[in-house]
Amino acid sequence: MPRFNRLLITGAAGNLGRELRRGLKPLANTLRITDRVEMESFGEHEEIMPCELGDFDAVMPVVEGCDAIVHFGAAPVERPWEEVLESSIKGGYNVYEAARRHGVKRIVYASSIHAVGYERREAGADTDTPHNPDTLYGLSKCFVEDLAKLYFNKWGIESALLRINSCFEKPADRRHLATWLSFGDLVHLVERCLVSERIGYTVVYGISNNQEAFFSNHKVAHLGYKPKDNAEDYRAEVEAKVGVGDPFDSAIEFVGGFLCAYGHPDEEERIEV
Ligand SMILES: NC(=O)c1ccc[n+]([C@@H]2O[C@H](COP(=O)([O-])OP(=O)(O)OC[C@H]3O[C@@H](n4cnc5c(N)ncnc54)[C@H](O)[C@@H]3O)[C@@H](O)[C@H]2O)c1
Repeated sequence: MPRFNRLLITGAAGNLGRELRRGLKPLANTLRITDRVEMESFGEHEEIMPCELGDFDAVMPVVEGCDAIVHFGAAPVERPWEEVLESSIKGGYNVYEAARRHGVKRIVYASSIHAVGYERREAGADTDTPHNPDTLYGLSKCFVEDLAKLYFNKWGIESALLRINSCFEKPADRRHLATWLSFGDLVHLVERCLVSERIGYTVVYGISNNQEAFFSNHKVAHLGYKPKDNAEDYRAEVEAKVGVGDPFDSAIEFVGGFLCAYGHPDEEERIEV
């Protein structure tokens, strides 16, 4: 018996959105999926409603009638300021405000490691580590985390803020040996945030069960998140491909990696994801 009648996934055409559409299918009778780019349907259980997240009037009908929201649509990495503002900051506000007006009571949000990107690897960061963004992208994640706190304290909308580290098919470099989140563990984490009886306002790091880690999730056992995958399985492959770096290089010193060394996005070349 599915837990939800209608679950909304934003950013549904994206890399992670597509994994979630496959993985969360058993949780809802209908998956309403939205993105600004065209999408092919994965089956009759999907209801496609395209929209531009920066447009409040477009977001309102997309949110109406949903029981919970998995909000992954945003500028996915550092982008020019106007894009971060429209897609991530205004987009985040529009989703939360539409949820308030339509009575949606739970949101799972794709935050990022870049909300705390200027933490040093050895600092022992946990889920109470305050914001320390490394980019405008990271700053937009801090904004939505704080927005979520306001909407929880004032209007009782529960949120899980997933500070996703590096969610890819497999680790690609030495930093990923600590930051990797497998697709399977991502789906499990989002599912736990949706089905746990109470999540209140919870920050959690999106990391697999890696031997190395820059963050601790020890304060969020209430979610029941038990990641299974371990980047260690890829260590030999990664080490054969990528040499050891300089520990005083900012891309290694700080958890945000190369984005800590990246300049202003309106002046730099575009980063591809
Ligand atoms: N992949 C990772 O390792 C990682 C790490 C940390 C956080 N995240 C977050 O997870 C989310 C998904 O990331 P992804 O890797 O799947 O990126 P992606 O670029 O593949 O997906 C993002 C999707 O959002 C959509 N989108 C962007 N702006 C929009 C707008 N204004 N209106 C409507 N749709 C819009 C895009 O069209 C795209 O399909 C993002 O919020 C990203 O910041 C990802």
